[in-house]
Amino acid sequence: MRRATSIAEVRAAVREWRRGGERVVFVPTMGNLHAGHMSLMEAAGAHGERFVASIFVNPMQFGPNEDFAHYPRTPERDAQMLRDAGCDLMFSPDVAEMYPRGAEQSTRVEVPGLSDILCGEFRPGHFQGVATVVCKLLHIVEPDAAVFGEKDFQQLTVIRRLVTDLCMPVHIIAAPTVRDADGLAMSSRNQYLSAAERARAPALYRALAAAAARLAGGERDYSAIERDGLRTLEAEGFRSDYFAIKCAEDLTPPGPDSHHVVVLAAAHLGRARLIDNVQVRV
Ligand code: PAF
Repeated sequence: MRRATSIAEVRAAVREWRRGGERVVFVPTMGNLHAGHMSLMEAAGAHGERFVASIFVNPMQFGPNEDFAHYPRTPERDAQMLRDAGCDLMFSPDVAEMYPRGAEQSTRVEVPGLSDILCGEFRPGHFQGVATVVCKLLHIVEPDAAVFGEKDFQQLTVIRRLVTDLCMPVHIIAAPTVRDADGLAMSSRNQYLSAAERARAPALYRALAAAAARLAGGERDYSAIERDGLRTLEAEGFRSDYFAIKCAEDLTPPGPDSHHVVVLAAAHLGRARLIDNVQVRV
């Protein structure tokens, strides 16, 4: 596996592969890799001859009171995991390489509407930061395809929209959420949970699955299902940001003609803010 910290090195490697007719697949991450990330790497391996992963904790997507400084960083362990997964190139730039004028002074990418709802309402500027860094990374790597996890369903929707709106010639691959045996979706932020909180955390997935089962069973009182979801989370000791049912395609409120919906929730448990979702065909 090659390791690159500069944009120029990445461009040179990828262009050489593409000249040789090889398909390049890209997996952007913030590092601190776990089994959830490794499933993205597996999906990448299945879609092309070469795969590139980036490790970059993007300051632009963190709010002033969020965990940017404390976000877990494990670059050498990540490099070993990527090597074992068959990654061809690991790109781990520093902040100055990605934002030479500083993140504050840098051009930004805004995906209106989608960025202000759900997590966007509670994390103002977050999706602008995500859209900007993903746009930059896609321009740097110029992959044929890029893989994103369904765990961050709103992020995936924002990225699909940005790629369409900006006519970017990249295929977006969605990889299913990887869960621990008790249902908790894998996330670097699970490390913030104490042992007692970790034992309670799967209640988030159970609440989403219960809502999905009601929808699959034919119930259509979305507000009642959302209210019950919020109540369940509060009873389990979470502080909820939202529990919502949306159209899976564009996160608009579902109507009588909606056939593919997603139940999404974000809730705090101790120091951790957990997000998860379940899709349902109705
Ligand atoms: O999902 C993540 O890890 C990040 O939001 C991403 C897509 C790598 C952008 O920083």
